Amino acid sequence: MAGTAASTPHPVLDKPLIRFGKRILERTAPGTAPGEYRILGIHPLTPHIGAEITGVDLSHPIGADLADELRQALLEWKVIFFRDQRDFGPEDHAAGLWGEPEANPFFPKGDRAGVSRLAKDAMAVGNENIWHSDHSFMAAPALGSVLRAVEIPASGGDTLWADMGAAYDNLPDATKQRIEGLTAEHDWVPTWGATMTQERIAALRQTLPAVEHPVVVRHPATGRRLLYVNEPFTTRIVGLGEEESRELLHGLVLQARIPEYQVRFRWQPDSVAIWDNIAVQHYAINDYYPQRRVMERIAIAGVPLS
Ligand code: SIN
Repeated sequence: MAGTAASTPHPVLDKPLIRFGKRILERTAPGTAPGEYRILGIHPLTPHIGAEITGVDLSHPIGADLADELRQALLEWKVIFFRDQRDFGPEDHAAGLWGEPEANPFFPKGDRAGVSRLAKDAMAVGNENIWHSDHSFMAAPALGSVLRAVEIPASGGDTLWADMGAAYDNLPDATKQRIEGLTAEHDWVPTWGATMTQERIAALRQTLPAVEHPVVVRHPATGRRLLYVNEPFTTRIVGLGEEESRELLHGLVLQARIPEYQVRFRWQPDSVAIWDNIAVQHYAINDYYPQRRVMERIAIAGVPLS
């Protein structure tokens, strides 16, 4: 076992941020009771993250009681799934139920306001196969995202989500103390800017400067502590030397890869996923190339994090 028998440190097991054994897997924020659902059917995919929801046709008007249950289910399960939502557009509920719609500034625009159409095939290979939070490079990162499957490969193309509350809860106490009060820089340039000219980057920088968020944020609705750094967009820990920042950040972004924190969803056409983008990170598995996979996506505008 790590650090017990051998006098020579093990190159992986003695890394303090990669641990094994018991995991803390809480579904709700400390002191918060699980929701009570009278309208919705809740079918958990794991004990703490991800539930399939039945008993709702998202294309029909959503009354106040149903809206309350849907919001409660999203806070509790962090990502909720629906099947056979034929006439539902991701933008349909954005205003009112989840918040204001927000398009990703870099995704190709669909033909409806705010909706991005993500069509991947042999010509446009998917590159969302890295753990990330949508729009963390913005001053007010998206609170949520809504994704609907339009065309799905015969096999493959699943999506994974990871519970960043669990990622925080399971950190060693010394690491929790080390990161308390730290902030990190988030920037789109290393990823979205990689193929842009310097002129284009400079122009986009006017509206999208690099931003800072706490390394540990409080969820805006539940107050739960969440680890809020991600591999593609978090560039450094503010105030640390380059080497120390890289080493700490590396250990923190690896946490999303721990399987017990994750849920995996197998899509069908007309499946819908809605996720709490502050509480989770996600990863789109790119194993279906050169088959085609088409999704529609909209984000829900966020608030500055603290
Ligand atoms: C995304 O990263 O927002 C896309 C997820 C997916 O296509 O499964």
